[in-house]
Amino acid sequence: MELVIKNGKVVMPGGVFEANVAVENGKIVSLGKTEPKADKIVDAGGKLVLPGLIDSHSHIAQPFQGALPKETWETGSVSAAFGGITTVIDFAAQFDPITYEKLGVMGDIKRKEEIAGKQSVIDFSFHGIFVDFSDMNAVLREMEEVVNYGYPSFKEFMTYLLLAISDWNLYLMLNKSREVGATVGVHAENYSLEEGMVKKFVEEGKKEPKYHPLSKPNLVEAEAIQRAIILAEWAKSRIYIAHMSTKEGVELVRNARMRGAAVYAETCPQYLTLTDDLYERPDGANFIISPPLRKKEDNEALWRALAEGYVALYGSDHVPLPSEAKMAAKSFNETPNGAPGNELMLPILYSEGVNKGRITLPRLVEVSSLNASKLFGLYPKKGLIAPGFDADIVILDHKLKKKVRLEDLHMDIDYVNWEGWELTGWPTTVISRGALVIEEGQLVGKPGHGKPVRGKIDEGIIKTVR
Ligand code: URP
Ligand code: ZN
Repeated sequence: MELVIKNGKVVMPGGVFEANVAVENGKIVSLGKTEPKADKIVDAGGKLVLPGLIDSHSHIAQPFQGALPKETWETGSVSAAFGGITTVIDFAAQFDPITYEKLGVMGDIKRKEEIAGKQSVIDFSFHGIFVDFSDMNAVLREMEEVVNYGYPSFKEFMTYLLLAISDWNLYLMLNKSREVGATVGVHAENYSLEEGMVKKFVEEGKKEPKYHPLSKPNLVEAEAIQRAIILAEWAKSRIYIAHMSTKEGVELVRNARMRGAAVYAETCPQYLTLTDDLYERPDGANFIISPPLRKKEDNEALWRALAEGYVALYGSDHVPLPSEAKMAAKSFNETPNGAPGNELMLPILYSEGVNKGRITLPRLVEVSSLNASKLFGLYPKKGLIAPGFDADIVILDHKLKKKVRLEDLHMDIDYVNWEGWELTGWPTTVISRGALVIEEGQLVGKPGHGKPVRGKIDEGIIKTVR
């Protein structure tokens, strides 16, 4: 064998088992009590052995709303790996984010595959994003091309000036997704409501960060989720609700799932753990993200939904915008949206979720890895510790307690929105396709190791997502 991970507690959707994991040619070949001979033995020493996380929502090195990150695919993939992530699903949009040259989604896929292929220490995949709907026939043709190329998922904005999709165009995309076997997602916020509220606050001279959540109350998300679900039901397609933040969203998804709709919601560490009082802080602009942070009751509703199956996905929505760009804005509505966090993905989910009894360990594996694999065409390569799957493995020291301190992190960024939080459960060793990326807390992975993960959605396996 090329690698054996011994003395670990392997976490599966069905439970936790003591087993040695044997790896050959980058793939898991067996699990069991025997210890095969191997070139390399990793002793997990009784720690948890999990499938590497699949970050279902990531914006590595992506400029947004005029703000330029320092992060590169190298540094962004390194911080992801330290967060237990072995596959990142990023985005390919139609336009170059700096020159605004129209590349098409396929063009951006090729551009990003080249950059990430040279720089990334972990594997990567993409959701396509369309923002130019002037020729809808061309959009629908390109959707099919992207799916056939191996990236069967899309995410559309229902908000943001110049980016938002109309209901009709979303309905057309949902119909097309059913025909070509894709999953379409939405950033669900009602642009018209939000625009009106922003205008009112700004006219009244209310420009501080605390007006950001007030300009996008839960209604703004709930209305858009409701609309997206109805469009998907009428199109007889599935829909993925990206970064869901509200208790009302949970209720809408629960009701839709009860009547058999194929709705899959994602939430993020920030919506599970942070609250809107943070906007009152002097650095409140650093928390300006969309949707905004909410209330404790929203956090708790999302945790319950994660446990019960009404939230199926856990993504970072990592956006590495520098604090300088966020703090410099004169008004909340001019602040570039997004904040970093991929390095804390697993510590937050384990510490706040499993350690506090909100979710079980098997559920952690489903929401952080297996479900994304099934929904976005990575199955049966990624998402499970089982023979035939890629050996993407994280060893989690579930007893290790550490305070979050920016200076200890690897994100190339000047703030972290969980500074000072004490978290229990940190990844110590991370393995990608059998190769060590992080060994006992030290980076050993090399840029260029990461490969594109292309695939096709298995319509049967999606039915097993919960
Ligand atoms: O605030 C956020 N989430 N910014 C990134 C772009 C998006 O909306 O996903
Ligand atoms: Zn979004």
